[in-house]
Amino acid sequence: MYWTTKHVLVCNASHCTQKGANDVAGRLRLEVIRRGLDTEILVNNCGTIDLCDVGPNVVVYPDGVIYAGVSPKDVPEIVAHLQGGPVVERLRVGPGAPAEEARRAFYRAAVDPEAVRPAADFAVLAAAHGFDAAWTAEQLRRGFLARKPATDDLPETVAVTKKARGRYGV
Ligand code: FES
Repeated sequence: MYWTTKHVLVCNASHCTQKGANDVAGRLRLEVIRRGLDTEILVNNCGTIDLCDVGPNVVVYPDGVIYAGVSPKDVPEIVAHLQGGPVVERLRVGPGAPAEEARRAFYRAAVDPEAVRPAADFAVLAAAHGFDAAWTAEQLRRGFLARKPATDDLPETVAVTKKARGRYGV
C-alpha cells in the first residue's frame, strides 16, 4: 500500500531476530490484516536501530515511538496504539525511560573513577546494577565495551568505549 498513515518498522537485524523479531513482525502483519487496517498501516522490517540489547525493537512513524523488548503477546496493545489508542508506555524506550536510565546509571558508575577496570570487578559492578554476563557479552559485541586479555603482569580488563560514553553521555 502506498499512502498509509502509519509506518511500522520491525528491526530484523541479528540481535533482534535472535530474540524473536520475526515472530513479532509476523504477528503484527496478521493483526493489521485481521483488523482490516492494511490500507492505513504498513509494517516493514528494517536494519539495526542500535538498541540491540533491548530488542526486539519496533519503530512507529510518524509518532516517533520506539517499542523495545516486544514479544508477540504485546502486539494487540501496539495495534491498539496504531489505531489511535494510547502509547504502550511499558514498552516505550527513549531518553528518560526507566530501562535507558538504568543503563545510563550503570555506565556512569562504570567510568568512575576511570573507564577501565579488571574484568572480575566489572562483573561485580554489572551484577550490582542487574546486568548479567549475557548482557555484558552483548555490550561487548556492540562495541560499547572492550575486553583486553590478561598479560603476565595484568589481569583481564573491561573498558567502557567512546561509543558508550557518547551514547549515555558519561
Ligand atoms: S539488532 Fe535490532 S536494534 Fe540492533
